[in-house]
Amino acid sequence: AWARLAGPRSVVLAEPRSFCAGVERAIDIVDLALQRYQHPVYVRRQIVHNAHVVRDLERRGAVFVDELGEVPDGTTVVFSAHGVAPAVRDEAARRDLFVIDATCPLVAKVHAEARRFAARGDTVLLIGHDGHDETEGTLGEVPGRITLVQSPAEAEQVAVADPGKVSFLMQTTLAVDEAADTVDVLRRRFPAVESSATDDICYATTNRQQAVREVAVDADVVIVVGSRNSSNSLRLVEVAQRAGTAAHLVDDATELAPEWLTGARRVGVTAGASAPPHLVDEVVGTLQALGPAEVTERVHTREDITFTLPKGVVG
Ligand code: F3S
Repeated sequence: AWARLAGPRSVVLAEPRSFCAGVERAIDIVDLALQRYQHPVYVRRQIVHNAHVVRDLERRGAVFVDELGEVPDGTTVVFSAHGVAPAVRDEAARRDLFVIDATCPLVAKVHAEARRFAARGDTVLLIGHDGHDETEGTLGEVPGRITLVQSPAEAEQVAVADPGKVSFLMQTTLAVDEAADTVDVLRRRFPAVESSATDDICYATTNRQQAVREVAVDADVVIVVGSRNSSNSLRLVEVAQRAGTAAHLVDDATELAPEWLTGARRVGVTAGASAPPHLVDEVVGTLQALGPAEVTERVHTREDITFTLPKGVVG
């Protein structure tokens, strides 16, 4: 089937794509912990939502667990980039675990806002996806005072104690366009609703979505590298599709399907914030192996954000 797909074709890479500052920091933290502490180093939940990253760290001695119950007392545990509820921190303290916190600073900021809004008596609405590690952590900040709103339809239905005292927060990896629809409903129903001064959807999410849209508008197909449980990668697929272009999520080059490329002369490629750059290189390599392919980059913006490392792995 691949033989019929010979080029010429052009491959357009969306920039930015792949790792964000929070993901690089989280992976560095596990790396440094593995060098510094006796193995095993436990990691609660996937450090970032990428199968390749997790497998690679596992090979080097990290042990991934779902809950702290699986971590022996007195050992080292890393909290993932998605953040944890205070109840998890409390349990770790009780159990005498040595905690290294890889929560992305931009997720920690949303947690702080949840506490601030709840402390002044607001009902807090969290726009996000049920069951995601990040929403679980944020909801856990102020139990009983916060409600998850997943869609414009849910925003129409949600009940609050006092419509004059409502604020909303967002998961950092939402689709910007979709979240705006939900916010419109909240503003109509609760004109006094308040929100954070700065966006909760993070810079990396926003930039990757804008970049993939720019690539998608004149591509025949878009390939997004990322894992199926990666919220921001799934959103990139949806944003490309909403731009009118077929788009597919792959964990790596082995998942590329020939039928996606039939007749596709212009292939857009991007990657979610948790997907390593070398997986993108392999996808491009596979496309180049099919026949002549000109590879270019379409730059929406260049990012130069980095975050400092936490106590426990530095100093
Ligand atoms: Fe942080 Fe945004 Fe990346 S919240 S982990 S910078 S996708």
